[in-house]
Amino acid sequence: MPGRRTIPPERTVPRARIAVLISGTGSNMAALLYASRLSDAPFEIVLVASNDPSAPGLALAAAEGIATFALAHKGLPRAEHEAQMEAAILAADADYIALAGYMRVITAETVSHWSGRMLNIHPSLLPKYTGLDTHARAIAAGDSHGGVSVHLVTEELDAGEVLGQIAVAIQPGDTADTLARRVLFAEHQLYPRVLADYVSRGNNPEHLLARVRELALALPETHERSSHGSPGFRVGSEKSGKFFAHFADQHHGVEHIGLLVKTGSMDELENLVETQPQAYYKPAYYGASGWVGLILNRPGVDWNHIGEWLERSWRAVAPPRLTKLMNAADDF
Ligand code: GRF
Repeated sequence: MPGRRTIPPERTVPRARIAVLISGTGSNMAALLYASRLSDAPFEIVLVASNDPSAPGLALAAAEGIATFALAHKGLPRAEHEAQMEAAILAADADYIALAGYMRVITAETVSHWSGRMLNIHPSLLPKYTGLDTHARAIAAGDSHGGVSVHLVTEELDAGEVLGQIAVAIQPGDTADTLARRVLFAEHQLYPRVLADYVSRGNNPEHLLARVRELALALPETHERSSHGSPGFRVGSEKSGKFFAHFADQHHGVEHIGLLVKTGSMDELENLVETQPQAYYKPAYYGASGWVGLILNRPGVDWNHIGEWLERSWRAVAPPRLTKLMNAADDF
């Protein structure tokens, strides 16, 4: 129809399901909860759980219609208590755990179940001052700033990748309490933002491109070159190199963020798209010459598999002197 605009299909991304663990006031939990009520929030709180049945945050969550779970840790072996907490989290079908003032150390086993899916907020500028009494220690050290960090939880206490920080100036005469109160303002800003960005990474073209770039440029003699305004990756010299991958962010009204790589034949391409439409699509233009689109903005993308596709596509266009080396290495 003349003059008709093509409206790109809406991204219907389900919201990430978060279980929040608290031990006390739960003001960070409340910050996450009210942030989740914003219309564009990429996460929802599906459970608030505590090791202290009298934690004030539980009542707040219940009043807001959020499921709660409480189990006192006293008198229970650590592993037993944790297993019951985790069972409640699994029953709530949570995708991520956000620790928010949860005062129990989590065992390595549980941490490993939630690797990359458990975040914590810690009231210091990590790696400074892991553990307790962070504000008093920052003041005693004469630091100009205290602050807050949100990090991934790993086996080692407060040592996982830092996802975001805010520094808070220490004022003359500050005590641990006065500083803690100001740091809380920063905490309430930081945690919802970092959590939102983190759970959205799989739909964030910049993040996806960064991962592709890392894999593509790890292959021999590769460089990045844009083509028709999109990032692409070539093998060979700057002058005569050939493209082996193209990054496509929602091109031509397609809702996918995709990576285009070469298949072996049209048959293979058609077969992939037909049998695994959740993972592959036939891209405009490139599809006609046997390139397939790998869908990157979907849950559970297997990045090893993306790496294998990149290598295969690289081999298909790399000069023989390079593929020979690669083949020799394979035989070795
Ligand atoms: C916060 O300072 C948080 O950084 C720390 O424990 C405190 C919890 O406060 N881990 P609240 O329960 O969220 O109000």
